[in-house]
Amino acid sequence: MGPLSATRTMRLWGPRSLGVALGVFMTIGFALQLWGGPFQRRLPGLQLRQPWAPSPRPAVSSCPPRQRLVFLKTHKSGSSSVLNLLHRYGDRHGLRFALPDRYQFGYPRLFQASRVKGYRPQGGVGTQTPFHILCHHMRFNLKEVLQVMPSDSFFFSIVRDPAALARSAFSYYKSTSSAFRKAPSLAAFLASPRAFYRSGARGDHYARNLLWFDFGLPFPPEMRPKRGNPHPPRDPNAPGTHILPSATGPRAQTIDSNAVVQPVSTVADGHGQTGSPASLDLGSSSFIQWGLAWLDSVFDLVMVAEYFDESLVLLADALCWGLDDVVGFVHNAQAGGEQGHNAVGNSGLTPEDRQLTARARAWNNLDWALYVHFNRSLWARIEQYGQSRLESAVAKLRARREALAKHCLEGGEALDPKYISDRRFRPFQFGSAKVLGYRLRSGLSPHDREECERLATPELQYKDKLDAKQFPPTVSAPLKASRLLSP
Ligand SMILES: *[C@@H]1O[C@H](CO)[C@@H](O)[C@H](O)[C@H]1NC(C)=O
Repeated sequence: MGPLSATRTMRLWGPRSLGVALGVFMTIGFALQLWGGPFQRRLPGLQLRQPWAPSPRPAVSSCPPRQRLVFLKTHKSGSSSVLNLLHRYGDRHGLRFALPDRYQFGYPRLFQASRVKGYRPQGGVGTQTPFHILCHHMRFNLKEVLQVMPSDSFFFSIVRDPAALARSAFSYYKSTSSAFRKAPSLAAFLASPRAFYRSGARGDHYARNLLWFDFGLPFPPEMRPKRGNPHPPRDPNAPGTHILPSATGPRAQTIDSNAVVQPVSTVADGHGQTGSPASLDLGSSSFIQWGLAWLDSVFDLVMVAEYFDESLVLLADALCWGLDDVVGFVHNAQAGGEQGHNAVGNSGLTPEDRQLTARARAWNNLDWALYVHFNRSLWARIEQYGQSRLESAVAKLRARREALAKHCLEGGEALDPKYISDRRFRPFQFGSAKVLGYRLRSGLSPHDREECERLATPELQYKDKLDAKQFPPTVSAPLKASRLLSP
């Protein structure tokens, strides 16, 4: 992945002025009008196994499985389910995780390499044992990530429709975000967000453009708090290390200017109605495109929660993994939320729901632009892969998941935590709704039990397990999971 690595390294040439970057980007982007970049990359065949019997990897493989991975775990976007498959894969293959001390890398502050357990700064003798997977919650910070992971790692993430994300975040962060806490309901919040939201207040990033925040992108000047923003942090190192988008990467031409001129309201007016390009502030629009171009040059794949299974197939394909490696159960789902990830479309929504959706997208205008952009990229990629080929892979994946659920799980599905007495499987409870989990069927063979346990283990417990494997405890450490914040 030479070119990719070079691209990512170019990000490090440091911040350029917005004007210069935009000028270069627009010239390249609009003059070439080529869909080059990510879609010209090799798309190896998916290594499908027999769906009913997990078999060893085929003896002849057309591509080596990729095992250096950076997953940006975004909040309330289905990322816990992705984390489970990364935990499982790394666990099974004995890969080394770059782990946080607890469960997050100093979030909401920008990621710092020094937060990684066992990290030793380079510069001395080559004593650093390489890490394979970096995947726990962080606010993305490329320069520091590249201190820990090689630049040719596979970078990926997941996004979700900001309207669905807002519903989930409101219930999960009701008491964490001061804006949400003051609001009687999400509808009331979105009807007049300015009455509750103050930029720079505690947990404000949960209440607006959370994806944009997690990707570590800077905010347009007019959206920054007047003074005293707690994020980015007060770390002496952090503010200057923010690598800003540079438009010189070979993938910059893939930006589609129409992708962001959707229901983005004016940045200054959070109540803006959706859908009017006339209301779009040009400065913000350029700013957004600039951020998206930068993300395109850094991330190899951005999954979309609404098309989760399609995304998983593309992930397996891009990583040269087997389909079994990406099949798993939904984790960290809240009771009463949509089960699964495939609630697409407006059918069955009341007018109130539709209004809430439109308002949530307008209020989270940067996230909406991000979402529309990566939804397009995903579908362009699906077309490249082949629609019918994808459909059949998705069908296999679902059949396999269903078979695993029947085989492993009591009741074959997620349960209210009150039915899960075994602490190893009881998910950490946070927010105003219950977080569902799994209970294993009894009578499983030892081999099946091990695999089913991997599938059913919630993220915090799995992190503890991996931590104990990588850093065998010398004296028994107290169980920390119950005291600490989950994602
Ligand atoms: C995502 O892309 C699909 C396929 O093009 C489209 O049907 C869907 O409406 C898109 N979603 C959004 C929110 O743009």
